[in-house]
Amino acid sequence: MVVLRKLPGMPGWPAALGLRLPQKFLFLLFLSGLLTLCFGALFLLPDSSRFKRLFLPRRATASASSSSSASSSSASSSSTRDTDLPRSPPAAAEPRHASPAAPRRLREKLRTAARMAGPPARTAPGSRQQVQGGESRAQPASAAPPARETRAPFRFDYERFRRSLRHPVRGGRPGEDPETRARRMKIKEMMKFAWDNYKQYALGKNELRPLTKNGHIGNMFGGLRGATVIDALDTLYIMELEEEFQEAKEWVEKSFDLNVEQCLRLPLWRSIVWEGTTGIHGFIKGSPHLINLNGEASLFEVNIRYIGGLLATYYLTGEEVFKSKALELGEKLLPAFNTPTGIPRGVINLGSGMSWSWGWASAGSSILAEFGTLHLEFLHLSELSGNPVFAEKVMNIRRVLNRVEKPQGLYPNFLSPVTGSWVQHHVSIGGLGDSFYEYLIKSWLMSDKKDSEAKKMYDDALEAIEKHLVKKSAGGLTYIAEWRGGILDHKMGHLACFSGGMIALGAEHAAEERRQRHMELAAEITSTCHESYARSDTKLGPEAFRFDAGSEAMATRLSERYYILRPEVVESYMYLWRLTHDPKYRHWGWEVVKALEKHCRVEAGFSGIRDVYTTTPTHDNMQQSFFLAETLKYLYLLFCEDDVLSLEDWVFNTEAHPLPINHTDFKAAVQP
Ligand SMILES: *[C@@H]1O[C@H](CO)[C@@H](O)[C@H](O)[C@H]1NC(C)=O
Repeated sequence: MVVLRKLPGMPGWPAALGLRLPQKFLFLLFLSGLLTLCFGALFLLPDSSRFKRLFLPRRATASASSSSSASSSSASSSSTRDTDLPRSPPAAAEPRHASPAAPRRLREKLRTAARMAGPPARTAPGSRQQVQGGESRAQPASAAPPARETRAPFRFDYERFRRSLRHPVRGGRPGEDPETRARRMKIKEMMKFAWDNYKQYALGKNELRPLTKNGHIGNMFGGLRGATVIDALDTLYIMELEEEFQEAKEWVEKSFDLNVEQCLRLPLWRSIVWEGTTGIHGFIKGSPHLINLNGEASLFEVNIRYIGGLLATYYLTGEEVFKSKALELGEKLLPAFNTPTGIPRGVINLGSGMSWSWGWASAGSSILAEFGTLHLEFLHLSELSGNPVFAEKVMNIRRVLNRVEKPQGLYPNFLSPVTGSWVQHHVSIGGLGDSFYEYLIKSWLMSDKKDSEAKKMYDDALEAIEKHLVKKSAGGLTYIAEWRGGILDHKMGHLACFSGGMIALGAEHAAEERRQRHMELAAEITSTCHESYARSDTKLGPEAFRFDAGSEAMATRLSERYYILRPEVVESYMYLWRLTHDPKYRHWGWEVVKALEKHCRVEAGFSGIRDVYTTTPTHDNMQQSFFLAETLKYLYLLFCEDDVLSLEDWVFNTEAHPLPINHTDFKAAVQP
């Protein structure tokens, strides 16, 4: 039916309809034959749950949407929502949000590497490690049913969860100064502008291309679509952009399709059925990229953006559709773990369950910041499904990492999923390494400080980093260098700038002596990152900056001068503000807002720029989804009261999606 609904809109289709009757009849006969074959094939699959998967989600969605569409927008959030959620007065004012940040360094790094090397994942087909192909295919079938069985009786108690929060989600609203409020409102307006343009020109695509006013799909998400919708949901909610939130939710209910894989084993049918969700032009043109569209999803990206965004929105709103989509998608990721060590590979085909390593990662290795950035989300998948398999997968990763020998106490970026040993000795707190460290400290915080293993691993890693990587420049700027087999590279990526916030967050809970030292370190690194912004002509920072050859906190290579709307620097501003209340962080954040407005805002959205050192920059024509998920959210929270997404209740995943801290005692809970 999906296919048929799409037909009238298809280019070339009118011509087909204009055929003479016998031809038309033959064609329809042919088409129905295809469909019959295709659906028939489903029954032959080993696991008939695949068949259910095709149809049941629609029904579940329909019921979820009927209950939720009843609660239209703003004020009318009558039905379930009011009882579930303590909400701030609907039209009152803006929420204060406060939240810690999350880096996406690794992913950016991947992206960058991909850009440099050509589509990296693609260069690999020959070298793909499909060792697991056979097993993987069997895996989803055998892994899925238990999940489904346990899910039926299991019910996550959402109301109990809400009662465990110490603060109302969107904050209280005591008297505040008008300037802060006006600044927050400005950032809210930027979010609305970014969303409205995405909605107008690119809804259902992954990202908006604001200059050409069309959508971008990319190759990181397999057949998944709507990355910007999923990434924007919780930001829209937190900013009380009610109407826009409903638009996004409606897209998730009606158009977010996880069944990208049906009929996979019959490539031709796949083309038809799968493309039914996006149009069948690919089929008509016989376009070869179909296979890629349906193929390579980054396990890491899908986890932090899609799973993270859906989980966060479920916890914020209590609406079932977000939970069920997250769980359904989570199950599709499981085959990636089917390796000798249980360390997942980086790329997975969401349809077939086949997984392989990035073509550009050395020797079929997995990447620290990828397999080390699953922990928070996977614990919540287990929490919400009642199925321990997700938690088991990430606890196993933890075990492998804890056991493997660390050179100088450092964690290199590449590990073999086959042997469980390091493949080369490159260490970075920027791309490829970054969010692994972040997830250690956040795992501990999310466990309500019970996961002492994570805390110890974080403390040890940070100690090694302090000892080997933290340096001070001639001009007195503190930075974190990269390490290549013992040789330092005096370079800091924009991605590494999240570390100011992370170290501050860890310091907050450290013993006194460390606390002070780490707080200073965090402030110094954040200040260095601010310098990288302040020393550019646009007041936006470059992709990477160096401390060598007489240069300080400036990009020295042409290829490192770009800024793609990244959040890491404002992320650190937000944490440092929350933890110190030094007004300079709000000043610095406001400088970023002004620079974004001046250099990145274009007629139809926000765009990255190619050179931060010229005031007439060229735009890169891309509004990254993380700009809505992270950059704008952290800026907004910077100008909110601390009880908006309070750090006492939430940790932010590396895409800035808030996940709740596991309060086990309810003593301090406040009723809003
Ligand atoms: C929260 O804590 C309980 C009890 O320690 C545990 O069973 C559960 O798995 C935890 N949930 C998460 C999401 O960590």
